[in-house]
Amino acid sequence: MDKLTCLIVAAGIMVPCSALSQTTVSLDTDNTTLVLETVSGKAPGILYYGSSFDSAVAAATLASAGFKSSPAYPAFGLSGEVEPAVSITQADGNRTLDLRVIAVEESDWEGGRTLVITSRDSYYPVTVRNCFRSFSREDVIETWAEIVNGNTSSRKSPGTIVLNRYMSGTLPLRVGNVWTTTQYGSWGDESRLVCEPLTRGIRMVKNVDGVRNSQTSRGEVMISLDGKPREDSGRVIGAALEWGGNYQLEFRCANSDYASFLAGVCPDNAEYYLEAGETFRTPALAYSFSDEGLSGVSRNFHRWGRKWRMRHGDVERKVLLNSWEGVYLDVSEPAMDNMMADIASMGGELFVMDDGWFGGKYARKKDNSGLGDWFPDREKLPHGLGWLVRQAGSHGVDFGIWIEPEMTNSLSELYEAHPDWVLHAANRTPVYTRGGTQLVLDMSNPAVQDFVFSVVDNIVSDNPGITYIKWDANMTMMEYGSLYLKHQSHLAVEYWRGLESTLDRIRAKYPDLTIQTCASGGGRANWGVLPWFDEFWVSDNTDALQRIFIQWGSSYFFPAIAMASHISVVPNHQVHRTTSLKFRCDVAMSGRLGMEIQPADMTQWEKDFCRGAIADYKRIRPIVQFGDIYRLVSPYDGLGVASLMYVAQDKSRAAFYWWRLENLYDSRYPRVRMRGLDPDRQYRVSELNRIDKRPMACEGKSFSGRFLMENGIEIAPVVHDVEGMPKSDWASRVLLLESE
Ligand code: GLA
Repeated sequence: MDKLTCLIVAAGIMVPCSALSQTTVSLDTDNTTLVLETVSGKAPGILYYGSSFDSAVAAATLASAGFKSSPAYPAFGLSGEVEPAVSITQADGNRTLDLRVIAVEESDWEGGRTLVITSRDSYYPVTVRNCFRSFSREDVIETWAEIVNGNTSSRKSPGTIVLNRYMSGTLPLRVGNVWTTTQYGSWGDESRLVCEPLTRGIRMVKNVDGVRNSQTSRGEVMISLDGKPREDSGRVIGAALEWGGNYQLEFRCANSDYASFLAGVCPDNAEYYLEAGETFRTPALAYSFSDEGLSGVSRNFHRWGRKWRMRHGDVERKVLLNSWEGVYLDVSEPAMDNMMADIASMGGELFVMDDGWFGGKYARKKDNSGLGDWFPDREKLPHGLGWLVRQAGSHGVDFGIWIEPEMTNSLSELYEAHPDWVLHAANRTPVYTRGGTQLVLDMSNPAVQDFVFSVVDNIVSDNPGITYIKWDANMTMMEYGSLYLKHQSHLAVEYWRGLESTLDRIRAKYPDLTIQTCASGGGRANWGVLPWFDEFWVSDNTDALQRIFIQWGSSYFFPAIAMASHISVVPNHQVHRTTSLKFRCDVAMSGRLGMEIQPADMTQWEKDFCRGAIADYKRIRPIVQFGDIYRLVSPYDGLGVASLMYVAQDKSRAAFYWWRLENLYDSRYPRVRMRGLDPDRQYRVSELNRIDKRPMACEGKSFSGRFLMENGIEIAPVVHDVEGMPKSDWASRVLLLESE
């Protein structure tokens, strides 16, 4: 091996590694520690990840306790026993990679520390930097890899190498009683939890949709280290891949005490040609450890996400009405105007005009035309967008608009002008989806990127009153072909990178815009997407009962402020269930509240009830949107109820939710113990969205946090008793707790 260039850069001082003879290095957050093995001339390893302990004695303690190191970034070719994180075909066809540590660098950044372990191949000029970044206060660590075709020595790269596999990072898991919770789903059933013990073999979660990477599966997992997952106790690691494209998360449990977890870009059909001198940077994998169970990890991710990853994580979201389920494509000036007036009268703050407003020659009358022609349909909107924005202003609400800028229809002026802008495999007949005509634009093409930028730029600069955009994406990458790219196998990666740089440009020019990401519902709930967005549409399924399940799973990694949750009509349009309006409000109030309904069809009583619900929501909005989540009773536990609460960071206030999930005569439901309160404070309880003629026994009474956490309060009656109304089979409660 070449002369070692091993350096520790600590507090700005560069110190030769050999002088320190340092073989391990630690990265701490407030409550966790990651210990890496960095022996010069050997592959980097991971020795420990868990609750924090004194890094000065970490190496000695771990050695004495018999802990073994596992490869931090296993490479393919010289050890058939490990699942590789990286696999390269060298320029001469050699398929092996032999990484050895040559340098370790540490430095501070605003939120914690960064650590970079540089390894070089023992023969070939390939360098890999494994990067780690701690977020101290949020107990999150990010890791990613930078793969360089070249090195710092005099040996020049002989040519292009091929990255066959380029994962972001790995974590060893000590086998025993480990359980994993992954999330699978489909349109209308996103985020369904699957909880299983980690058994021998390979378990994989992957997405190859190309566009909507969280519709059928999610790029996040919970790993419970102490047996079956619990919400408030037990050691749990949560891991989230920050990538909007195709991904793969894998568990490999073989003939070792240590199983491995790997996550990164899905390597299927995605070999990446790296030219001499080029660097490939993988997306980051974020992980967090908590010994406060699943909810503990969720709280860490929520705090981290709000502070560091999502847009405007510290700004309250507005209560809105979206036009989709109210009018679908039947947009018109009178309909929009009436909806704006109605949402304003109920206390809403924003109106969003959904699909159906655009197109000229191929106006959007049905879902088979117009995508790409982002100017108002003059038949439906004779006075254009400006008139609508002004009307919104006169009603006292903001105005938002729906676009699906990555897509086109074969029936569009855009496609007529630029048939080469769509994803298309040469010599194949185009593959259409929605409406029989929809196609995906090729975001890897800079001309398409410019067009997509101009869609937002034109709409917003022509109509500065537009403050909100719903950015949709309703199609899979069906045809795997780009007429722009040289290497077709780069498509899935370059599509997302092209979208990222377009979103960068949009955000540079319009930093204050609120933008929702939607992809046929919850298809873009991912920490790789949210840096440009303020929230995501959780699901096209607006049924309140099923939303409890979908939002429960989504809350594992995403905070309520990011989860758009709307009150809709009954019978529900997706599952045809009829729930009570109170139940629908009480569920929607646990996320970012909105409405998705035709107010013209509501009775005065319903409008009044929603006005009250919106007013009540505004009272708890800061708690819901910025507070800490405590999931109390899971809808998956079959106890007939689900319950959760949000507690303000200073523990002065909390919002408690209780939803009955089934109605069988003589059912007995558990009394729910609260969590996260200050045991020594007194909390006064008041019911929000109250509907019953008599108040609950706890109304206006005070209890110590200790009592509420040890005992809880009785939710009674479980069947609402409403003046002048028949009894209903739906029941729910929202309680506000305020410290005295
Ligand atoms: C997708 C979205 C819906 C709606 C429609 C409009 O399905 O998920 O909310 O915006 O598109 O076509």
